[in-house]
Amino acid sequence: GRVPLPAGALAGRHVLVTAGPTHEPIDPVRYLANRSSGRQGYAIAAALAECGARVTLVSGPVDLPPPAGVAVTRVETAAQMLAACDAALPCDAAICAAAVADWHVAQRSERKMKKAAGSPPPVLTLLPNPDILARLSAPGPDRPALVVGFAAETHDVERHAAAKRAAKGCDWVVANDVRPETGIMGGTENEIVLITRDGAERWPRLDKQAVGRHLALRIAQYFSSDRSP
Ligand code: CTP
Ligand code: CA
Repeated sequence: GRVPLPAGALAGRHVLVTAGPTHEPIDPVRYLANRSSGRQGYAIAAALAECGARVTLVSGPVDLPPPAGVAVTRVETAAQMLAACDAALPCDAAICAAAVADWHVAQRSERKMKKAAGSPPPVLTLLPNPDILARLSAPGPDRPALVVGFAAETHDVERHAAAKRAAKGCDWVVANDVRPETGIMGGTENEIVLITRDGAERWPRLDKQAVGRHLALRIAQYFSSDRSP
């Protein structure tokens, strides 16, 4: 059955969620991107809204309807996603579920690049994108009380996810255990390890909808207790 959510537990809280891929244009018809359906981020946003939060969902290009009761800001690039997140501050919690492209093309062409007969293919120079999770995690007056990042790990899940938590400066990392022996890759279920300051919580196997509900419940618990992350 579906985990019951505490209606109203996040009333008066503003939560920012990023979801989907970003598209980094090469020219008007081509782009660089990560694979992402956006389903995990949308499920989290929906579950948080069900808990009564005001949710701002900053979404890259995906083929999903806006979740009920959620304000969606649609963006294309990582730079636009960062700007939309900054514009949404302040918030109580930020959940970075987006599969942000790590690079953008240094010199995007304003005109479609043509294959000239006999000439070599273009060489693309890439520049790093801003790390939105790290930026939201940085100390400052607008730093959300709770910042949550995601990671997919194929081995040493807890160690790598804990290292990612430290590197980004976020409070929690939702680590998806994609070791081949879990049989998770390509399936509909996830095996999640939640890394917090206190250690690692292993969740049962859940689909993306249920992961969203578990995370929303966990966030509601966090804000209804005096515990810091
Ligand atoms: N993330 C982000 N902005 C970026 C890159 C990543 O906000 N430019 C966030 C993702 O939304 C996710 C977390 O950082 O919550 C981890 O993303 P991941 O791609 O696993 O980590 P990276 O630091 O980009 O490392 P790498 O891709 O090299 O593993
Ligand atoms: Ca990355």
